[in-house]
Amino acid sequence: MEFDPQRLAQARHLVVFSGAGVSAESAIPTFRDALTGLWENFDPARLATPQAFREDPALVWGWYEWRRMKVLQARPNPAHLAIAELARRVPRLTLITQNVDDLHERAGSSSVLHLHGSLHHPKCFACNRPFSGELPEPLLPEQGCSLEPPRCTGCNGKIRPGVVWFGEALPPHILKEAFKAAGECDLLLSVGTSGLVQPAAQIPQLALEQGACVVHINPQPQTCTKPEEYSLVGKAGEILPQLLRQAFA
Ligand code: OAD
Repeated sequence: MEFDPQRLAQARHLVVFSGAGVSAESAIPTFRDALTGLWENFDPARLATPQAFREDPALVWGWYEWRRMKVLQARPNPAHLAIAELARRVPRLTLITQNVDDLHERAGSSSVLHLHGSLHHPKCFACNRPFSGELPEPLLPEQGCSLEPPRCTGCNGKIRPGVVWFGEALPPHILKEAFKAAGECDLLLSVGTSGLVQPAAQIPQLALEQGACVVHINPQPQTCTKPEEYSLVGKAGEILPQLLRQAFA
């Protein structure tokens, strides 16, 4: 059975659950691809942990500043724009993302639930207070540069990226809101995610269990185990605009 795009037009509460694949067409390297160039000898598990920051804050901060620079240079792609447009077409849309960039917001989406935090909201490693200073324009680092993190204006602790690291809990209020939306929606689009990272990966599963229709959009075919589960094979930046055209022609 094929997914009927009309179901998009009929959805009362649509959830879009996005992953790194949505930003791939904006040339944002995915988590694992981000370790290229001079970074390729590093293990992501070594860089994306509190332990790594404790041992070498300048190395970890430098890597994240390099990623932030990539994001600032990038622009939203047709997938981000189609998701923002969908919010104007359906009665209710909840956007849940695993991405730490701000490309959904720059495409016009609001109230985005960032399960894994954001590159753009650093905070103090010591006191957890949001960083209130100005981050420099990230001209540097070039690939491979260590960069001394700025200091907290409150306690002089080191500033860390506002992302969720391995071994850290997801923000509980955001996770709760995301699970609630997944349990209540009638249609969920799971876009550009490998669905491997827990607990985020439970979100499409939960929607299916609660009787919603779930559509995976990914160049890699996804295994569908339920009658109300579909796999649309292709790039998000092509499939999403096409679905919009077909649903709201
Ligand atoms: P992954 O890097 O695990 O998976 C990206 C998915 O996007 C893959 O399934 C690709 O096939 C797919 N993809 C690639 N190009 C695409 C395109 N143009 N259109 C649609 N899909 C495309 O990324 P996530 O599932 O987001 O966690 O990974 C989840 C988490 O793993 C990340 O948030 C990060 C990482 O560890 C943290 O940082 C906590």
